Amino acid sequence: MTDRLIKGADLVGKGRRDVLIRDGRVAEIGSLTAAGAEVVDADGLVLLPGLVDLHTHLREPGREDAETVRSGTRAAAKGGYTAVCAMANSYPVADTAGVVEQVAALGKAAGYADVQPIGAVSIGLEGKQLAEIGAMAGSAANVRVFSDDGHCVSDPVLMRRALEYVKTFGGLIAQHAEEPRLTEGAQMNEGPVSAELGLPGWPSVAEEAIIARDVLLAEYTGARVHFCHVSTARSVDIIREAKARGAQVTAEVCPHHLLLTDEAARTYDPVYKVNPPLRRDADVAVLRAALAEGVIDAVATDHAPHAPQDKDCEWAAARPGMLGLETALSIAVLALGGPDDVDWDLLAERTSRTPARIAGLEAHGRDPQPGAEANFTLVDPAASWTVVPEGLASLSRNTPYAGRKLPVTVQATFLRGRATVLNGTIAEEIQ
Ligand code: DOR
Ligand code: ZN
Repeated sequence: MTDRLIKGADLVGKGRRDVLIRDGRVAEIGSLTAAGAEVVDADGLVLLPGLVDLHTHLREPGREDAETVRSGTRAAAKGGYTAVCAMANSYPVADTAGVVEQVAALGKAAGYADVQPIGAVSIGLEGKQLAEIGAMAGSAANVRVFSDDGHCVSDPVLMRRALEYVKTFGGLIAQHAEEPRLTEGAQMNEGPVSAELGLPGWPSVAEEAIIARDVLLAEYTGARVHFCHVSTARSVDIIREAKARGAQVTAEVCPHHLLLTDEAARTYDPVYKVNPPLRRDADVAVLRAALAEGVIDAVATDHAPHAPQDKDCEWAAARPGMLGLETALSIAVLALGGPDDVDWDLLAERTSRTPARIAGLEAHGRDPQPGAEANFTLVDPAASWTVVPEGLASLSRNTPYAGRKLPVTVQATFLRGRATVLNGTIAEEIQ
C-alpha cells in the first residue's frame, strides 16, 4: 500500500496538521512532506476519528432484499463510519456462534467498515431462554455486546441471568426498553397527536419503566447495561440519577429522536413510523441537552432498512424503522448546535470515541497519533447536501429526510489507511 499524506486537516483540538499514513497506521503528524506519498488535500476539512455505530440493522442473513452486509457497510462508509455493531434480529437470529461468525466474515469480505456482531440475549429473540452467550463470546467474532433489539428483554429473571452471565467476561447487555404489555397495538407516541389521529398510543412510561427496572438490576448485579434509542425526557432523568449513584449504565440516542417529533405522523406517511416512536418537542430538547451534557453517552443510528412492501403501505401495516447511517453525522451536527457552532471535539466524543469504548472496539474511536490505526473521516464543515433517496448507498429507501438540505458532507473515510470513500464517492475498489 502506498503511503498517504493528508495535508492541512483540522485535527480536532490540535489545529491544522498533516498526517502521514503508512501500512494502515499513522506514521507521523506535523508539517510534513513525503516523497512518493499519495496526497489528500484536506484544506478546510475536519479530521474526525472514524464514526462508530452501536446500533445497525444490516439485515443479512435473511433479508438481503432490504440490506446486505456489503450495502449496509457501504452506506456506513459514506456516512463517515469505520465500524458498526450489527444487531442480532436477522433471519436466522444471531443467537449462535455460527451466525455471528458468518456476519463478521461477510463484513471482512466486503471491507467497507469493521462489522462487530451483537449476539442475541435469548434464543430466537423470544425472551424465554438464554442464547449461547458464552459460545458467541468465545467465538471468532468475539462478541461482547448482547441485545434482543426489536424486542425488549422484558422478563426480569431472564434479564438478571443475562447480566450475571455477561459480567463474568466484561460483556454488556444493550436493552431495547419497551414494556410489551404497555405497547400492545401501539402505532405512535401516546399524546395529543395520537388522540387526534385516532392511532393507538405508545406511552413513554413503557420505556421509562424498563429503564428504571434495569438500572436497579444493573446496580444489584454489578453488571453493565446500555440503553438503546432513549427517546423520552423522563428516561433521561432516570439515567442521570443512576449515573450519579455510580450505576454502570450507558445510553444512546438516535438522530431521528434529536430532530423529528410526533407531529410528522399527521402525514400518515409510514416513513415516520419507528420504534420507539417520534416523541414531543419537549423530549427532543431534553435529549439534545442530555447528549451535550453526557447523560446520553453516544449517538447511534438504529439504521433500519426496510423493503418497499414492508414500508410503502398503510401506517398500521408498516414495519417500524428508518435509515440512518448516511445522514447521522449531519443530524448530530444540527442537534449539537449547527455547522457554525458545533463543538467538533464533543461531536467526536459522542459519535466515535465513546461508542468505540462502550463496544470495546479498541482500534476505533482514536484520534490520530503515531502507531494508531488510521481509521478516520474527513468532513467538510462548510458544505451541505440534499438527501435524494435514490442516491443513497443503502439498498432501501426509507429515509425520513428525502428532499431535506442537511449540513456538512463526508469527503473521505479511511479504514486502516485504505480509502472506503474518497472525494465524497464510495470506492469501488478499496485501496
Ligand atoms: O424502529 C425500529 N426498527 N426499532 C427497532 O427496535 C427495530 C428496528 C428494525 O429492526 O427494523
Ligand atoms: Zn430497538
